[in-house]
Amino acid sequence: MSSTAKGGAKPTVTITLDGSNRSATLPLLAGSIGPQTVDIRKLYGELGIFTYDPGYGATASCESKITYIDGDAGILLYRGYPIEQLAEKSDFIEVAYLLLEGELPNAAQLEDFRKNVTYHTMLHEQIRRFFDGFRRDAHPMAIICGVVGALAAFYHDNLDINDARQREVAAFRLIAKIPTIAAWAYKYSIGQPFMYPRNDLNYAENFLYMLNAVPAEPWKNNPILSRAMDRILVLHADHEQNASTSTVRLAGSTGANPFACIAAGIAALWGPSHGGANEAVLKMLGEIGTPENIPQFIREVKDKNSHTKLMGFGHRVYKNFDPRAKIMKETCHEVLAELGIKDEPLLDMAMEMERIALEDDYFVSRKLYPNVDFYSGIILKAMGIPTSMFTVLFAVARTVGWVSQWKELIEDPSQRIGRPRQIYSGATRRDYVPVSGR
Ligand code: SDX
Repeated sequence: MSSTAKGGAKPTVTITLDGSNRSATLPLLAGSIGPQTVDIRKLYGELGIFTYDPGYGATASCESKITYIDGDAGILLYRGYPIEQLAEKSDFIEVAYLLLEGELPNAAQLEDFRKNVTYHTMLHEQIRRFFDGFRRDAHPMAIICGVVGALAAFYHDNLDINDARQREVAAFRLIAKIPTIAAWAYKYSIGQPFMYPRNDLNYAENFLYMLNAVPAEPWKNNPILSRAMDRILVLHADHEQNASTSTVRLAGSTGANPFACIAAGIAALWGPSHGGANEAVLKMLGEIGTPENIPQFIREVKDKNSHTKLMGFGHRVYKNFDPRAKIMKETCHEVLAELGIKDEPLLDMAMEMERIALEDDYFVSRKLYPNVDFYSGIILKAMGIPTSMFTVLFAVARTVGWVSQWKELIEDPSQRIGRPRQIYSGATRRDYVPVSGR
């Protein structure tokens, strides 16, 4: 394969089949930043060959303007704004507007958007009955996956994905209702009454209120904790074409309604290799027990036969520190200080684990660093959120990213139904043999 770009001509790549005089010259596409991309859409037509990329590690599935990651430099931009600046200076509702609309809102746009989200936080009263169908010990991810998918049964009036206004209302409904659904899944699991959303609270405050308040007494907002929750939501809001977002896009490419697409994203996020890692980190730290056991655990991780992973470490894209992990670690110290927690054994364990791993060639040579999930669980546990709700919280935050990416897909005139190909290595054609002859 070679690439050419004579003065002014569009750059191309030429692929030549060895042992033949057949070649294909394909366009080399460039975005505003990031690696160039070979447009292989004509490859099969010209050379009768496919490309092979299990896990899509080297494949661009779409063109997007929403989030950019430079994994080697540890850079994460939402619509061009560095995550560090947004985490420090913005808040989740403003970031949600930015991801959806592409620009930071002015005061009037922000107020209007905030109102629209606030006035969609309530659920249809009949949706309450969905929760009664679950066992009390159902995992909350199972509950929110089911309830979000079922929203389509309540909003027949805005399932036409080709109508911009209906897409906008569906976006408001999903972003606004996911915290209510998540909080009710938690309340259901502990047998407490559901708390209805309050319009006088901001997004993060309202989520903590619905999670923690009880009808029997007034609830007092802790601004440090709600600010920390808001920042955690910002950090998890979007992350370009990760597994769950790609699932949402694939579902969206078939024309499925937005509620079904987001339910598919929730299902994909649940896996321990993806959004389920925050819950898995706490389980891992708990099983290790004490810092003295860390060296033995690290030995186990390095033994391929153990199939043990250091949860919260490594990333398909980041081969440097995940910038979100750094902010999460700082937030961890703030929350523990605010809560007066002097020594949190889990944090000590995590920091010791990070120190040992980052000095060990197994991790250094593979460029395995802490990712967003390594510290988040420690903060959430300190805030009194049960481990089973960690991935649910990730889903609450990521809903705005999924909806933004889904909206971009639907509004992209070049989008087609997603349909990957394969290398077939099964049996070639053969005739049926009756059971008497087998
Ligand atoms: C998220 O994509 C996103 O953007 C996701 C996310 C988002 O915001 O949407 O960032 C959120 O999902 C973060 C990742 C959370 N998952 C975990 O923390 C689970 C632990 N991590 C690993 O499972 C793994 O690192 C992945 C799944 C995250 C990435 O998998 P890759 O890219 O397929 O990694 P790899 O298998 O190519 O790793 C290369 C090597 C392998 O060893 P060798 O075959 O070279 O000997 O590193 C090893 C892997 O075995 N390795 C690990 C490891 N991660 C990779 N070894 C031990 N512990 C780990 N965590």
